[in-house]
Amino acid sequence: MEDFFDFSSQLMELTPSRPVEHLGDSDLSFGGKLQPALKIHEDGGESGCGGKVWIAGELLCEFLLEKSDSNGVLSKWQHEKDSQIPLQTVLELGSGTGLVGLCLGMMCKFRCEDSQIYITDIDQLVPLMERNIELNKIQNNVIAKKLWWGEPLESVFAPKEGIRTVDLILAADCVYLEKAFPLLEKTLLDLTDCEQPPVVLMSYKKRRKADKNFFRNIKKNFLVSEIKDFARYDQYLKQRTHLFQLIRITKA
Ligand SMILES: C[S@@+](CC[C@H](N)C(=O)[O-])C[C@H]1O[C@@H](n2cnc3c(N)ncnc32)[C@H](O)[C@@H]1O
Repeated sequence: MEDFFDFSSQLMELTPSRPVEHLGDSDLSFGGKLQPALKIHEDGGESGCGGKVWIAGELLCEFLLEKSDSNGVLSKWQHEKDSQIPLQTVLELGSGTGLVGLCLGMMCKFRCEDSQIYITDIDQLVPLMERNIELNKIQNNVIAKKLWWGEPLESVFAPKEGIRTVDLILAADCVYLEKAFPLLEKTLLDLTDCEQPPVVLMSYKKRRKADKNFFRNIKKNFLVSEIKDFARYDQYLKQRTHLFQLIRITKA
């Protein structure tokens, strides 16, 4: 775990810091699609790189909003032919401020859907995620927990006797540091080691050539396909930000 501080300082060196407006409280409505707007407190990176909102997280929020309607959250998205994802339990990895899981939590709350959404990150980010849950008053839908990639899964997330406990996995901007790639891969493998494994929706900003090592390895066990059918695909592409769906194709 101590290694994260290495990761964190390396990340600070390798990625430009966000402008100062990424400090304090802001309202995010994603072009009016989310009402009431999501309130996010950012600490400017004080608690690690996750203390601010990243563009890949914004992409994933926009996708969730665009693919949902009065029939339900993600009802307009079919990840496989004729199949719709149940959303009883959703897990977000590397949530940072909690942005994506909180956006989903708001959507579920106002559609009266009783999904349980876990937003997770390293210990240092848990207080910030909790603060943002309270800010949006979605304690009933969203729970903040620590989840270090590569560590054994807590029983609430670990598949039980081959049955999945999580229906959908979200990950925004989690592929950014080579040392963490095997840890993230292990967690994804552990979470999907079951019958009918959960789909992973992963948004990603391309920064370094080494990122391809993560995708090369993950493709040994997952079918990775890029999702392009969303409204602002071209704008995100210009910022080298992509959305992938990962479906487990092997057993661990
Ligand atoms: C670039 S930030 C993205 C934050 C957020 N998902 C977003 O899009 O705004 C990457 C996140 O991954 C988390 N992370 C990095 N290494 C981790 C590890 N080993 N275990 C758990 N989380 C980790 C960081 O703490 C950080 O919150």
